[in-house]
Amino acid sequence: MSLTSVCSSSSSSGSSSSSKTWIVHGLVAGAAIAVAIGTGAYLGRFRKFRSRVVGIIPARFASSRFQGKPLVEILGKPMIQRTWERSKLATTLDHVVVATDDEEIAECCIGFGADVIMTSESCRNGTERCNEALQKLEKKYDIVVNIQGDEPLIDPEIIDGVVKALQAAPDAVFSTAVTSLKPEDAFDPNRVKCVVDNRGYAIYFSRGLIPYNKSAQVNPDFPYLLHLGIQSYDSKFLRIYPDLQPTPLQLEEDLEQLKVLENGYKMKVIKVDHEAHGVDTPEDVEKIEALMRERNLT
Ligand SMILES: *[C@@H]1O[C@H](CO)[C@@H](O)[C@H](O)[C@H]1NC(C)=O
Ligand SMILES: *[C@@H]1O[C@H](CO)[C@@H](O)[C@H](O)[C@H]1NC(C)=O
Repeated sequence: MSLTSVCSSSSSSGSSSSSKTWIVHGLVAGAAIAVAIGTGAYLGRFRKFRSRVVGIIPARFASSRFQGKPLVEILGKPMIQRTWERSKLATTLDHVVVATDDEEIAECCIGFGADVIMTSESCRNGTERCNEALQKLEKKYDIVVNIQGDEPLIDPEIIDGVVKALQAAPDAVFSTAVTSLKPEDAFDPNRVKCVVDNRGYAIYFSRGLIPYNKSAQVNPDFPYLLHLGIQSYDSKFLRIYPDLQPTPLQLEEDLEQLKVLENGYKMKVIKVDHEAHGVDTPEDVEKIEALMRERNLT
């Protein structure tokens, strides 16, 4: 798989000194040294921005569509364990924890070696659960990655991609990933579409097709983007995110992330090659098992 920024002329590299003349003198000197001794050394020495990262997998037992979903076995292993094992392969995470309100899930996770944070049953969604878990963690973190427990084939590179995007975009509080939208999903309201600006910041998310072609048809030549569930937050932002009042567009589309944009915060988006294989229903389990057998994944 490959990771690309949505826009290749991404702003984050900071290599052009002329556009950075406003930077304090010390930093400019640092950049000059970096050019002399190589970027790796520069990053190693100076990159302190949002460096502490925790991955949180929120998992609840109760679900309207699929009771006990995190514990369902996929080719003999609980789904939550698969998600956790994949997450552990991400190189940017200092720590991976499961956040749950359920004893059975907690026991299962401790059994395969995961760290577990118990959260209250009152958490209304994964974001609130992540926030509560963050408050309960002993160490401080700058970035929280919300790793959906129902994507057992999540690619660790995507986790690393959203983390790095947030580290490289100080003006963003949120980062997430998109992939190419399949034409057959264009008018499926459960597939959320996204449009971004030319620096890879989100402009809008919709359940409708965006952009919308004048012909009222899918334009086969347009690179439509499908939103993937993974998101990472600046931890200071996560503390206030659940308490931000619902906003009109958020309520109309039933999309939490719109609250971020409607409140004027910036969100960085990366584009990845990924086929989403989310597990929402018991039927999805069979589909994903068939796919894994086909690809010899165990
Ligand atoms: C709409 O889609 C068609 C292809 O279906 C494309 O030729 C056209 O440029 C697109 N844009 C507009 C404004 O029609
Ligand atoms: C989570 O649920 C609460 C309560 O319904 C809501 O205010 C909030 O917008 C939801 N989403 C997020 C991202 O916090």
